[in-house]
Amino acid sequence: MKCRICSGNVREFFDLGPQPVSDAFLLPPARADEFFYRLRVGVCESCMMVQQAEEIPRQKMFHADYPYRSSGSALIRQHFAAVARRFLETELSGPDAFIVEIGSNDGVMLKTISQAGIRHLGVDPSGGAAEVSAECGVRVQVDFFDETTAGTILARDGQADVIYSANTVSHISYLDSVFRGVDKLLADNGVFVIEDRYLGDILEQTAFDQIYDEHFYLFSVRSVRALAQLHGLELSGVEHLPVHGGTIRYTISRPGRRAISPEIARLCALEPVDFAVFEGFARRAADIRDALTTLLTGLREQGRRVVGYGATAKSATILNYCGIGPDLIPCICDSTPGKQGRLTPGSHIPVLAAESFAAPYPDYALLFAWNHAEEIMAKEQEFKRRGGRWIMYVPEVHIV
Ligand code: SAH
Ligand code: TMP
Ligand code: ZN
Repeated sequence: MKCRICSGNVREFFDLGPQPVSDAFLLPPARADEFFYRLRVGVCESCMMVQQAEEIPRQKMFHADYPYRSSGSALIRQHFAAVARRFLETELSGPDAFIVEIGSNDGVMLKTISQAGIRHLGVDPSGGAAEVSAECGVRVQVDFFDETTAGTILARDGQADVIYSANTVSHISYLDSVFRGVDKLLADNGVFVIEDRYLGDILEQTAFDQIYDEHFYLFSVRSVRALAQLHGLELSGVEHLPVHGGTIRYTISRPGRRAISPEIARLCALEPVDFAVFEGFARRAADIRDALTTLLTGLREQGRRVVGYGATAKSATILNYCGIGPDLIPCICDSTPGKQGRLTPGSHIPVLAAESFAAPYPDYALLFAWNHAEEIMAKEQEFKRRGGRWIMYVPEVHIV
């Protein structure tokens, strides 16, 4: 397998078997022609980028009915409002500043920029989410960002002081085109700021459910530094953040334009280079699968009712890799309107509104949205008070 970034040799370390499109929630009844692909990941021996073996056509994942909405979490709303305020105070404080966001979704970040009257553009192919952002006063182009789109934006709006993208760049297999686009569009002293789940945290927590179709790459400081360099840009800053179970915010700029943070070298030195680390991760993931299915089967035998909480894209990996279906988890509660009344992809578990969680409370709830544990557990305190228990599987299977 050849590296999608540098053409180096990619060594496969984990085969997660047949997987559906993670956000393709089905209208019942389930159909026999559901799309599956084989999810395999490897690490490039040259640039250290962790990546998938197979690319799915982008239109299969991102389209008018893409259900994910960033604003579903209060903590995420706060996070992106803070991101916007920081840009307003720093990079966007000059005259006629312009920011482009790649993957603006429902406008969770750009809303604050728009309210401040700053020139902006969101680019996102998911029409339904884009519509929500437009209703919040966000200027949005329903499109995939790539070299062509960047050219159109440049001709119409001029160069950007900031190109920002959260939880999206790692979703894009064709990063060569994206980086050529960024190189065109970015002002000489501009910054390309990327936030994405951090490989270091994923390995440490054995959070193998972070591997699914949309997460085509798992970024590390080493691999992003190499990626920027390959495209004539420079990684100048990194910040390790707690969002989504561990994220890094990368600041990429034109060479020599910004001071290089010493944090880059510090984090690189901690990153794995030994293939055994990746093999160990895959073994621990298999152990989690065995422990989780044993626990769920045992609870079913004891007549306990277990429901799922949070029909995350991540849950597609867990459910399909572990072979968990409605016989073990009869339903999953989720607050996203576009997922409710549908079946989870591949595993065909009905998704119900969050309100149905209490009607009546189950004995156990399997928390698929573990990255939102604090917010969800605070909201669902009554469940615990009545004797209910949460089942967690990160960093290992345990009950709280
Ligand atoms: N930035 C938001 C949304 C992340 S979900 C957040 O952090 O919560 C990923 C988003 O990227 C989706 O809305 C999807 O439609 C969008 N996306 C996928 N490929 C894209 C591309 N090539 N250009 C722009 N957006 C893209
Ligand atoms: P994410 O982990 O990709 O952000 O997805 C979180 C999912 O969990 C999303 O489908 C919304 C759902 N959710 C709830 O149902 N209730 C909540 O309180 C939160 C924060 C999320
Ligand atoms: Zn490579």
